[in-house]
Amino acid sequence: MRVLSGIQPSGKLHIGNYFGAIRQHLKLQAENEAFYFIADYHALTSGPKPEQLSQRIIDVALDYLALGLEPEKTVFWRQSDVPEITELTWILSCVTPMGLLQRCTSYKDKVAQGISPNHGLFAYPVLQAADILAFHSNLVPVGADQKQHIEVTRDIAGYFNNTYAELLTLPEEYIIESVAIVPGVDGRKMSKSYDNTIGIFEPEKSMKKKVMGIVTDSTPVEDPKDPDKCNVFALLKLVADEDELNEWRGRYESGGTGDGEVKKRLLQLLLEYFEPYRAKRNELENNLDYVQEVLKKGADRARPVAHKTFEDVRKAVGL
Ligand code: ADP
Ligand code: TRP
Repeated sequence: MRVLSGIQPSGKLHIGNYFGAIRQHLKLQAENEAFYFIADYHALTSGPKPEQLSQRIIDVALDYLALGLEPEKTVFWRQSDVPEITELTWILSCVTPMGLLQRCTSYKDKVAQGISPNHGLFAYPVLQAADILAFHSNLVPVGADQKQHIEVTRDIAGYFNNTYAELLTLPEEYIIESVAIVPGVDGRKMSKSYDNTIGIFEPEKSMKKKVMGIVTDSTPVEDPKDPDKCNVFALLKLVADEDELNEWRGRYESGGTGDGEVKKRLLQLLLEYFEPYRAKRNELENNLDYVQEVLKKGADRARPVAHKTFEDVRKAVGL
């Protein structure tokens, strides 16, 4: 099964991204032919500063490699290193009805938020369709917010196949069900847009500050508490083993346990959990030539696949 997904280089990755998406991406590489890329052209639609964009691209590459992406097995590249994708985007644009894109909720949401949209943002789903269709992907692991873009991809593939030739493979989405939505330090969904994140590779000192500052209710220490309504416990669930969780659950329910104590243990477990990855990331950071080499080799493996599809598509449309 060919699995493909794109990761936007849009800022420092947080533990919500890890438990909600990255961990599953990495699991899927074991039993599938995985194609993962850094969606830098998509990131351009939100107008990042040039030096910010190039730093974020490297950061995502470092994060994924440190967290366990296996570059010998999984094809891992930078979207903009495969120019066939943007060429294919144009041809797909010419079978894509305006109405299909006008109905896309992620575009409509951004406009509703007051963002003045550029054409790239409007055409974003066509570029995403090209990403997916160029590689004849079968399965696309994404968060629930991306489901519509995969449906649009199937529609575009259908329009193309009906108009020209049965060439493009219709993909299926694989909606990554997170263990749960990971809460941020303020109790809302952890998200970079809310400034409430705990970074995967956050320095120990600032991780401590954030964990100790997690918002909790004001139940007095001696009173019993419902652990399932507690943000600290929700985060503890991600990193503590079953026995330990049950013990904390019991202590919350019988009262007498302060949040400070649980937060300290949470911090310790988070640091332990990510320690091996942190060490790996530091090592990679000192070897950026290797990281660039991985991305280049990835593009060298990805390009012939996209090229073949693009050649078939060109021929089918009469070019
Ligand atoms: P953000 O909300 O920080 O902008 P993205 O939208 O870039 O995050 O999400 C990237 C991936 O991480 C998506 O697959 C998304 O479902 C997942 N993800 C993001 N935040 C969380 C969270 N708080 N809990 C679980 N999964 C999350
Ligand atoms: N739009 C996706 C997101 O924001 C990123 C992405 C770009 C993608 N191209 C893709 C995801 C192709 C899956 C397949 O998360």
